[in-house]
Amino acid sequence: MLDRIDELRSEINNASINSLEEAEEFRIRYLGQRSGIITNLFKKIGEVAPEDRPTVGKELNALKGTVESLHEAALARLEEETDGDAPEVDLTLPGRRPQTGSVHPLTQTLNDITRLFERFGFSVAEGPEIEDDWHNFTALNFPPEHPARDMQDTFFVESPDGPRNGVVLRTHTSPVQIRVMENTAPPVRIIAPGRVYRNEAISYKSFCLFHQVEGLYIDEGVTLGDLKQILRTFAEAFFGEVVQMRFRPSYFPFTEPSAEVDIWWEDEEHPEGGRWMEILGSGMVHPNVLESVGVDSERYTGYAFGMGVERIAMLRYGIDDIRTFYENDVRFLEQF
Ligand code: DAH
Repeated sequence: MLDRIDELRSEINNASINSLEEAEEFRIRYLGQRSGIITNLFKKIGEVAPEDRPTVGKELNALKGTVESLHEAALARLEEETDGDAPEVDLTLPGRRPQTGSVHPLTQTLNDITRLFERFGFSVAEGPEIEDDWHNFTALNFPPEHPARDMQDTFFVESPDGPRNGVVLRTHTSPVQIRVMENTAPPVRIIAPGRVYRNEAISYKSFCLFHQVEGLYIDEGVTLGDLKQILRTFAEAFFGEVVQMRFRPSYFPFTEPSAEVDIWWEDEEHPEGGRWMEILGSGMVHPNVLESVGVDSERYTGYAFGMGVERIAMLRYGIDDIRTFYENDVRFLEQF
């Protein structure tokens, strides 16, 4: 029995344990409840000569202790190594960026237009989006039967007890001209950026609301030449030096003469290599408009213009559907 114990001791001391499974096998081989080698030797202690029993018992206990401490040491070492196998932090990976918002392309365009006109000496004016008939139409020289007052274009505001007489969502920013002139004596030089509303069929090119930037300059001796100069200066600053512009005679009730302004937009897909795109309406302020706000039309003249911001942003960014501005899809918005 003592020889067997010597044999086992050297076997145990030379055992190599390289995994958690091997550690468990090691424990079971010697100390397993049913057929562990040492367990079985303990069971056979009755067969040993009585005078040898204390020695054998002591030796067996010592051997059992060795197995237990080797097993524990192996577990500690292996667990530490396993921790080391856990995924390491790769410090060369780029960090995760926090998601930040972006400025809406319409806001950017509005800001850029506004900044340019401020540089040209215009100040910014504002007016309400809910307007009365006087400011939106009458003072702007719309005759009573003018088709623009038609249900087709204008959203009329109702109150709980029925339609409110002549209260509308403004159909353009031109009423701000009236509001400013009502409150300020000439000279007046303002732009008025803002939202406008039209009851139109919604499609890729028209939406029920959009933005305009209105311009107004009233002083003694303002001419059509001044209007052309400011618009050209603006277009060159906004679209780049080479922009080609044309003034097309047009009609607005509040200007005389009136012109629509187009710029030549290069477009390789187009058979002519580009096309004329309308960017704004403009003209010399009609004397009736000046008189409606008590400005002496013999002494003062002025020009006005109104541009569509969506149209300009669509040209600038190559956007082909106006509705995308209003869908709030961040995948679209964060591209600008
Ligand atoms: N208010 C016009 C519109 O909504 C645009 C416009 C045209 C404004 C000529 C003006 C102007 O100030 O002079 O279509």
